[in-house]
Amino acid sequence: MNLSSAVTADDIIVTKLCPTIGAEIGGIDLRAQLSPAMQKRIRALLVEHKVLFFRDQTIDREHQLAFATKFGPVEAYDSGLNVTGYREIVRIESGSGIPKIPTNTWHTDASFMARPSMGAVLRAIEIPEVGGDTLFADMAAAYDGLPEAIKKDIDGLVAIHDGRKTPEEKEYDAEWYESHTSKFPSAEHPVVMIHSESGRKILYVNSRYTTAIKGLPKRDGDELLAYLCSKAAIPEYQVRFKWRIGSIAFWDNRSTQHYASADYGNAVRRMERIGIAERADQ
Ligand code: SIN
Repeated sequence: MNLSSAVTADDIIVTKLCPTIGAEIGGIDLRAQLSPAMQKRIRALLVEHKVLFFRDQTIDREHQLAFATKFGPVEAYDSGLNVTGYREIVRIESGSGIPKIPTNTWHTDASFMARPSMGAVLRAIEIPEVGGDTLFADMAAAYDGLPEAIKKDIDGLVAIHDGRKTPEEKEYDAEWYESHTSKFPSAEHPVVMIHSESGRKILYVNSRYTTAIKGLPKRDGDELLAYLCSKAAIPEYQVRFKWRIGSIAFWDNRSTQHYASADYGNAVRRMERIGIAERADQ
């Protein structure tokens, strides 16, 4: 791997993983300084492929933070799951005895915020021998695949996203639920979001946080929501990533949803995530 500044944006190796989503990026060491041209190229690749994967990286928290910072202001808040001393880094762990957040539902990070994250950088620290993959869904492709009549029906609709956890999640980790759910707000977003960089239409509802469609009778709204949310689970819109130690995923949170498969029993899975906010000019 090359740490020298001689690596240029043109030296990046891009391997597409699925027709519309996911690319593995080689030829770059994420510890290196990223030139403005390199940052621009990576950002363009992110918008195009929606999730980028980097293998065999030896980055630590400071490198992860420095990398994330290149793409927008990193988010810093008390989730109750922060790495000690880092309000920007959220621990996502299972099997290690610390509170866990249920990430095995399709979701867009922080869609319950008025301005949800632009993206996130996730670093694998300890992974199960097998299992614990993360699946990503292309919600631009999901929108494109809707029948024209449904596209017309949902045009202009607004959905409510609520960060307070469901009773199922309370069962998952009651202590964390009690201490943190009241801090998560709710927000309204168009059901069809326009991507701030690509201009593409994105199907922007998710089964974890979206609770209702405004202005529709509950039964009709619930039915429509269940139908729209189910689109993330269609394999043709997905890429599935198998983690290795040193793997990094960088996703565009505007155009994707993700789901961490919880298929590894009591094995330990430790990841650290940094959320990146939208820049003010977007
Ligand atoms: C997340 O849902 O933000 C984390 C996904 C993962 O742990 O793979």
